[in-house]
Amino acid sequence: MFERLPEAGGGTITIAVDGIAVTARAGDTVAAALLAAGFLSSRTSPVSGAPRGPYCMMGVCFDCLATIDGIGSRQSCLVLVREGMRIETQRGGRVVAP
Ligand code: FES
Repeated sequence: MFERLPEAGGGTITIAVDGIAVTARAGDTVAAALLAAGFLSSRTSPVSGAPRGPYCMMGVCFDCLATIDGIGSRQSCLVLVREGMRIETQRGGRVVAP
């Protein structure tokens, strides 16, 4: 479905997705890195529990929400990967601190 432009991207970096080391390309967004690594879902719906994954890739649909470096509900299509980044898929709604 998706193809990389041949001239796109720099070197490779390592990120952690749900504690698993994953190789990503520098310059990719987190959403692109997740899709390239085979993670088609970055969260589940808080209402039905259905898996949700990146759809628009441009910050409109909010289906790409993920926890990035400990901060929940970030739009992964708008954040660039960087070495050592920690990404967790979200299950249900974000927990709000009391
Ligand atoms: S994929 Fe639509 S907001 Fe990120």
